Amino acid sequence: GFIGIDVGTSGVKVVLIDETGRTLAESTCEYSYQQPRPLYVEQDPEVWWQNTCLALRDVLDTSGVPATFVQGIGLTGQMHSLVLLDETGRVIRPAILWSDQRTQAECDWIEREIGTDETIRLVANPPLTNFTATKLLWVANHEPDNYAQIDKVLLPKDYIRYRLTGEFATDVSDASGTLLLDVEHRQWSKEMCEALSVPMTWLPAVYESVEVTGKVTTEAANQTGLAVGTSVVAGAGDQAAGAVGNGIVRSGVVSSTIGTSGVVFAYAEGIVKDPLGRLHTFCHAVPGAWHVMGVTQAAGGSLQWFRNEFTQLEQMTAQLIGRDTYELLTMEAEQIAPGSEGLVYLPYLMGERTPHLDPLARGVFFGMTGRHQRAHFIRAILEGVTFSLQDCLKLIEGVNLPVEQIRVSGGGARSHLWKSIQADVFQQPVYAVQSNQGPAFGAALLAGVGTGAYQSVQEACDTLIQTDEGIRPEPSHFPVYEKAYKMYVSLYEALKPHFQ
Ligand code: XUL
Repeated sequence: GFIGIDVGTSGVKVVLIDETGRTLAESTCEYSYQQPRPLYVEQDPEVWWQNTCLALRDVLDTSGVPATFVQGIGLTGQMHSLVLLDETGRVIRPAILWSDQRTQAECDWIEREIGTDETIRLVANPPLTNFTATKLLWVANHEPDNYAQIDKVLLPKDYIRYRLTGEFATDVSDASGTLLLDVEHRQWSKEMCEALSVPMTWLPAVYESVEVTGKVTTEAANQTGLAVGTSVVAGAGDQAAGAVGNGIVRSGVVSSTIGTSGVVFAYAEGIVKDPLGRLHTFCHAVPGAWHVMGVTQAAGGSLQWFRNEFTQLEQMTAQLIGRDTYELLTMEAEQIAPGSEGLVYLPYLMGERTPHLDPLARGVFFGMTGRHQRAHFIRAILEGVTFSLQDCLKLIEGVNLPVEQIRVSGGGARSHLWKSIQADVFQQPVYAVQSNQGPAFGAALLAGVGTGAYQSVQEACDTLIQTDEGIRPEPSHFPVYEKAYKMYVSLYEALKPHFQ
């Protein structure tokens, strides 16, 4: 069997699968993050490790298999977050997370000193507050004592690798989100490291996602219950690993995932860049392939905000009748016709990445009349979030990547209504993956490929992943959504000067 470990933002998830892709056991241990100041988001790497040990033990216990049944382990996790170690391997300060927004000044500095075009030329992406190198510059600028102690710079899943195997290693997909990787040549960028004064000795060795990077040590085996010598493969960032779990491993197959954030992810055979940097261009977990993705910051997060703020009564009702509040809210939205009678929602509650790269963008409801009820607002949210995913899809088509099959996943794919809105707005059928989903599953598949159970990532996906029959678009809805989408696009342009 194979284990996947996902070191996430809100918890660590471990899954154990057998060679047929069946889940034998899974375990999630949750933790929180700290927000010591506005814009700051931090976490203690020791908490990741302690919870990884707990979840691994739990999975081995509940599955009842001996530790030697596990042939390989794949790692995945939150991308971009900065972990700093000193020369004794001790963590220097809490990890600065991907969602931390303190580094705008560092982004501006890179833009001034190196330039956005040059940054895109060297590392395929523009300087954004989410990316690791900007966080490293912040430590240099604000915490010189900590900076002076740095011996290694790691990403979250790679810190867990270090604890499991004693090796300093990463994979090409996760390394792509640091702003230090020459994404085209799949190796650290000497030029970028020099420009940012980052010694290359600080950086871990870079592997393709399916390569074995080390073996579980005796000490780690004692703490986790794993067998000494179990192989650990490089793994991937959570987006690339999640894409493997959805079978996004061929040209033309694209995913639309609505979690807290929303991501449209496309496979690319060669490197493809958006000249304006609105799409992320990263190495894929499939050796020798790339991917581009558009990220909308508040997708499921928009509906979650509405649920938290405006539905106290429904939350109680849902609890009493044993239903999910989201289910009640989407049922309410089903009563309303497509287009929400002219009510349009812009989902920029947390600024926006794709397509605007505008941290100052704000959420908007436009077009309210006395006729609008709460149900219209819910439907407008589902539609507005889908329009932001449509923006991502259009950019992907704009860089000439084919969009032949769309696979929906994440919490948003639990709603039939939200899936059919996606089909109607994208004007294409949308399919859901039937098997186990998510980054931990994808990481377990990568371990299966790396230890020889499958010839390639494509073969593993073809063998283990099936889609459902899909939901077809309803052509009679196209005109009303086209009109609403036009309004959605022009509202941002009109309001842009007021976002500050
Ligand atoms: C990807 C991104 C998030 C984090 C969250 O660019 O910022 O998906 O990886 O886990």
